Amino acid sequence: MAEQKATNVHWHEGDITREHRAKILGHKGATLWFTGLSGSGKSTVAVELEGVLSEMGVLAYRLDGDNVRMGINKNLGFSAEDRTENIRRIGEVAKLFVDAGVIALSSFISPYAADRDQVRALHEEAGMDFIEIFVDCSLAAAEGRDPKGLYKKARAGEIKNFTGIDDPYEAPPRPEIHLHSDQQTLAEEVEQILSVLRERGIITS
Ligand code: ADX
Repeated sequence: MAEQKATNVHWHEGDITREHRAKILGHKGATLWFTGLSGSGKSTVAVELEGVLSEMGVLAYRLDGDNVRMGINKNLGFSAEDRTENIRRIGEVAKLFVDAGVIALSSFISPYAADRDQVRALHEEAGMDFIEIFVDCSLAAAEGRDPKGLYKKARAGEIKNFTGIDDPYEAPPRPEIHLHSDQQTLAEEVEQILSVLRERGIITS
């Protein structure tokens, strides 16, 4: 849990509620948290889903590990401490998107269960939907894809603390959605996610 450093700060409530914003947009906000190994397909599913949702008139926004690490989290590396801070900040950013009524598609390896659970708690305390999506893929398949050539570098010892090679990945024991990206098609994965969004009343179409 991050320390509250600033003192004498007070929450300022506005006049427009989350429900009001949901009415404007025609759907609820929610965080869809994609977790899995590098190269497991988190960003690929998120990009596809964002496209399908936008065709349905549903506003989604992707928060992606590589992108965020070039901006708001550019001062963080891959130590356990930095990965925890990476996820904490993104959890807060995702929560702001949900409050705004948007479906936040967050794709981060997020290897530690405790960090993901912290983000879940943050959402649930605020009455927001947090849907953990395990993009399950064998290490062999992810390494075989190696879209950025990083596994090769990690095996050669050129990258240290690489998830799955010399750094841990804690799979979620009870994700709301469990995808098998080395066995399912992209369309099947997207459909599986859409049906949960409908069941939960986040989208109606
Ligand atoms: S997380 O562990 O803190 O959640 P995040 O998803 O933001 O990681 O970033 C992972 C991306 O950073 C990978 O997809 C890869 O492109 C790149 N990367 C660079 N070094 C590492 C490393 N040591 N371990 C994992 N990913 C790394």
